[in-house]
Amino acid sequence: MATILIIDDDDAFREGLAETVQDLGYSPFEARSGDEAFEQLRGRSAPDCIFLDFRLPGADGLAVLETLRKTPGLQTVPVVMLTAHATSDNTIGAMRLGAFEHLTKPVGREQIAALLERILSARRETPVPRVFADEATSHEPRLLGVSEAMREVQKRLGRAAIGNSTVLITGETGTGKEIAARVLHRASARAGGPFVAVNCAAIPDELLESELFGHAKGAFTGAQTDRRGRVEEAHGGTLFLDEVGDMPLPMQAKLLRVLQERQVTPLGTNRVVTVDVRVVAATHRDLASMVEAGTFRQDLLFRLNVIPLHMPPLRDRVADILPLAEHFLASTSSGVARKHLSADAQRLLATFAWPGNVRELANAIERASALAPAQVLTREDFAFLTATRDSSDDAIPRALLELPLPQAVAQLERALIAHALSASSGNRTEAARRLGISRQSLYTRMAALDMSEASA
Ligand SMILES: Nc1ncnc2c1ncn2[C@@H]1O[C@H](COP(=O)(O)OP(=O)(O)OP(=O)(O)O)[C@@H](O)[C@H]1O
Ligand SMILES: [Mg+2]
Repeated sequence: MATILIIDDDDAFREGLAETVQDLGYSPFEARSGDEAFEQLRGRSAPDCIFLDFRLPGADGLAVLETLRKTPGLQTVPVVMLTAHATSDNTIGAMRLGAFEHLTKPVGREQIAALLERILSARRETPVPRVFADEATSHEPRLLGVSEAMREVQKRLGRAAIGNSTVLITGETGTGKEIAARVLHRASARAGGPFVAVNCAAIPDELLESELFGHAKGAFTGAQTDRRGRVEEAHGGTLFLDEVGDMPLPMQAKLLRVLQERQVTPLGTNRVVTVDVRVVAATHRDLASMVEAGTFRQDLLFRLNVIPLHMPPLRDRVADILPLAEHFLASTSSGVARKHLSADAQRLLATFAWPGNVRELANAIERASALAPAQVLTREDFAFLTATRDSSDDAIPRALLELPLPQAVAQLERALIAHALSASSGNRTEAARRLGISRQSLYTRMAALDMSEASA
């Protein structure tokens, strides 16, 4: 039977919740404070879920959550935070520390039933991976992540690995596109074959063709020997076309032919080489808008985008930040020198916006860990992160953070539309252009947002 720990100092609420939980067929146990909870948890197996009140005697709920996230065996237990008064700060604080949900009291029986069902069925489907801090020694490429978003990526990648279909990996810089391609290759039936990576952005346009297709001696000035192309080298394995959005148009046409015919002709020859390659392409660019702008071929996009795989930015999968940080810490420092993160350092890392995504996180950990004077890395050791940039929160007006998401979005949209209208002196065609939407969508949006003629 699933066990549920309830931590709350309000006796009536705690006992009521325990009763409901029991009624629903689960096995509850209770604690009045963080200390009491850790006392209770000693010597028993991890509960399946923890309900945790924000305001507690001694260490408050967030501090208890932080401790849970650092306690081996408890790091991945889903935690539902409870408050009498939800504020943006406590909600964001809780979610960023990886809380599963944040509920405002009173909570109804139906709500509890649905929530526990959701938590427990998610656990049944995907066994929660252990924290990966101690797995740093493996040299296999790994796409780590425990967030829902990364689980989806991992699942899709696993399914894609089975076949030979072309995969197009998109995502911001540093989100793990290349590592995803490597993991895909290792997971596929081609794992024994070569993995050949070509960075289309790094090779000068005039050399890209011979790099990909090879050339005969004397095919052009400087071609002193015969050379096999990268496509041919990938025979039996995977060809990774990195930064494919940077490929010049004439080359795109040639690549399209290769994808259709699985044949290449080395420069300066009339030899046709048939190749068996699986193509995985990646780009941080928005290929669809490049197609619109005429800088990327639509037919090539279709050919590449058979299985799309989008790598979400790190700020959208906050649950991954601290486990990844621990992983990088373990790989940069080990044994007695193994460094750790203080609670305030953890909070900083978990709330930072990470424009450079996982790469930036890895670099930050390496830098802080190399320079920190002590065994425990504190907020100050990561001061370089905030010295030059604001954290994501500061870019969002406080008032919006106080609203539920749909209202906040609507309010922001209203403000943007009003701004565009006034900047174009009420001219709707011009306002729509500024907003990058059609005149018709502007009308539709305004109607949906209850924006009258007058307010506009
Ligand atoms: N999920 C992950 N687990 C472990 N390491 C990761 C993960 N995602 C990224 N990394 C690490 O972060 C760094 C950047 O990843 P990668 O090179 O794959 O990013 P990218 O999306 O190709 O970036 P760019 O667009 O800048 O080329 C690498 O060192 C990679 O090992
Ligand atoms: Mg890359």
